[in-house]
Order: sequence, then C-alpha cells, then structure tokens
Amino acid sequence: MSRTPFVAGNWKMHRTPSRTAGFVRELVERVPEGIDAAVCVPYTSLAAAVETASGTRLRVYAQNMHEAPEGAFTGEISAPMLNDIGVHGVLLGHSERRQYYNETDAALAEKVLVAHESGLEVILAIGETYEQRQAGDTENVLTRQLETVFSGLADDRAAITTIAYEPVWAIGTGRTATPELAQQAHLYIRRLMSRLYDENVGAAVRIQYGGSMKPDNAAGLPGQRDIDGGLIGGASLDVDQFAAILEAAVPVPVEE
Ligand code: PGA
Repeated sequence: MSRTPFVAGNWKMHRTPSRTAGFVRELVERVPEGIDAAVCVPYTSLAAAVETASGTRLRVYAQNMHEAPEGAFTGEISAPMLNDIGVHGVLLGHSERRQYYNETDAALAEKVLVAHESGLEVILAIGETYEQRQAGDTENVLTRQLETVFSGLADDRAAITTIAYEPVWAIGTGRTATPELAQQAHLYIRRLMSRLYDENVGAAVRIQYGGSMKPDNAAGLPGQRDIDGGLIGGASLDVDQFAAILEAAVPVPVEE
C-alpha cells in the first residue's frame, strides 16, 4: 500500500496573527506535489491561516481541543468552534501538553473520538521520555498510549488518524533519533495498529516522525519504509527550512 507522505509544522506558542498571513502566503507557494502538508498554529492565528490557505493544498490544524462541545471550561476551545472557522484538523497529545497540562491518555481517547465525529483530521502525538528509553520501556509506553486512545475508535477512523512518533528526548534538543532507531519504533507502532485492528489499518495509518527534524536530516528519515513524513517544530518557523523539509518528503519515483 502506498501512503502519501504528510509533513506538518507545529508552531507551538510562536507567531502573532498579524505575522501569520504573510508567512502562510509564502508557504503555500512552496508546497510540492506528491505530499500532504499542514501547519498547526496557535488559536489566535487559526482564522488568518485558514483564510490565507483557502483554495490551496495547505491544511490548517489547531494544537489542542477540548472534548466537550461547549460548557463551563474557562480558557478551552471546542471542536464546533474550530469547525466554525474552517479549521481542517487538530494535533492532539503533544508531549508538551502531556507534560505541562496533564493531558492523559483517557482524555485523549475522548478528544480523538470527538475530533473524528466533528469531521476534523487528527494527528495524535506519542513517544517515550529519555528515562523510559534508558529503562528499556519504549515499547510498553507506546503500547499503553495507543491502546488507550484507540480502544473506542472504529477501524475506518483509526486508519485515517495520523500518528506522530516523537521521542520526547529528541524534541527541541537537536538530538534526532537515527533513521534506523526511528524506523524500528515506527515498525513497532504499525504492527501494534495491525494487532489492535487488522493488517489493512496497520498498512494505511500514516506515522510521522518528530523531534529536531531539520533540512539536513530530513532526507534520511522519510526515506525509511515506515516513516510517512514528519512533525516539525523549530524548523517550521522558517519558510526556507520548512520548504526544504517538504521537498525532502516527496517520494522518489521508483524505476520500472
Ligand atoms: P522540534 O519539535 O522539531 O523543535 O524538535 C517537534 C515537535 O515538538 O513537534
């Protein structure tokens, strides 16, 4: 099965709305054919990004979402609110949200379900910490994170959920996983999805790599069999760097 590579930029808490449109305008010109591309932007920049990217191939994602449609949840944003301004999808479970805002797998299971029910695309981020990897616990951690989130999700929705494998020790540290190490984790995730669902879901699900991906290491990572693109933090804030990573993800045509 051939999967279309998918590269998403995660701006985190960077860039004001007034600096969003100009950046997105430049970026949409540089999205190559043959891949899917998205930017996950702060809530306040969503409307500007959606408007500027309208009619182009660039998708616009939020970085989080509350699972309830509305209610007494001060400071939160719901799926209907994202839908109302034309947002395409949502990034859920980023390690910074797990670490600083107590995002749990149980809450994520609900959020992923609600996002799908609302017609939003989903990138679900998972990954182990340095201590967990050192303790030989990586596969257990990934299993726990995926089993909980996917426990209540139907096959067709699981298959179109993008999983971002981001080893926490590689995020923002300049310490990228080697392509071999990342491939090993991606293969594990794919097999786990086959086990939780079936071979079709395992083969269809797109798995991005994330963690200090830059133009100079972007060629080796998506080149691996089970790596279907990337989730890019720091380098997505620079249009040249992000465009170079998008280019690196374009599949090389196979000679007949
Ligand atoms: P980074 O961030 O590319 O700056 O390491 C990746 C992420 O947190 O998604």
